[in-house]
Amino acid sequence: LKLAVLISGGGSNLQALLEAAADPDYPAQIVCVGSDTDAPGLEHARAAGIPTFIVRPKDSENREEWGQLLATAIQEHGVGTGPEPGLVVSAGLMRILPAGFVREFSPNLINTHPALLPLFPGAHAVRDALAAGATETGVTVHVIDEGVDTGPVLRQARVEVLPEESEAELHERIKQLERPLLVRTVRDIALGTLNLP
Ligand code: GRF
Repeated sequence: LKLAVLISGGGSNLQALLEAAADPDYPAQIVCVGSDTDAPGLEHARAAGIPTFIVRPKDSENREEWGQLLATAIQEHGVGTGPEPGLVVSAGLMRILPAGFVREFSPNLINTHPALLPLFPGAHAVRDALAAGATETGVTVHVIDEGVDTGPVLRQARVEVLPEESEAELHERIKQLERPLLVRTVRDIALGTLNLP
């Protein structure tokens, strides 16, 4: 399965996928890594010799045009075209993908989100879980639809919230589960043991 991975930040989830895909028995290969910004995590891809691209929203007239440029950059690497469409993985992309982009790749388009959806969607999921006094939260890998973190849930993992924990500490503990969950979910999609709706 060909993967295009999209990131905005440090790319630890990307790095986990790169490490998994370095094993010839892993059934998916990362063919490109894209970002909306100079994400530090792009360095992980460069170090692995994987092509990267940046499509900046400010260079587009509007969100749909940005999505179209992003889609084209991905398709140039053979994802989203032809009989084997591959998979687009949003792994810490901190932007909402516009409707045209979603229609182009659906349902071969997944996201990882640091909460137990449908609880705490949006950009501040860990902060929101703490603010709500949640005693547990976690991570969700889901198919992206046209809403914000609303698409069909594929896999989840739970984390207990510890007393007095900071947002950064809780997020780090969530990410320790998130990385292997994403790696397993992509593997199962590639093997066909997990079907996309
Ligand atoms: C992940 O927790 C992702 O779910 C969230 O941002 C974090 C990205 O981490 N949206 P990284 O860039 O993969 O280290």
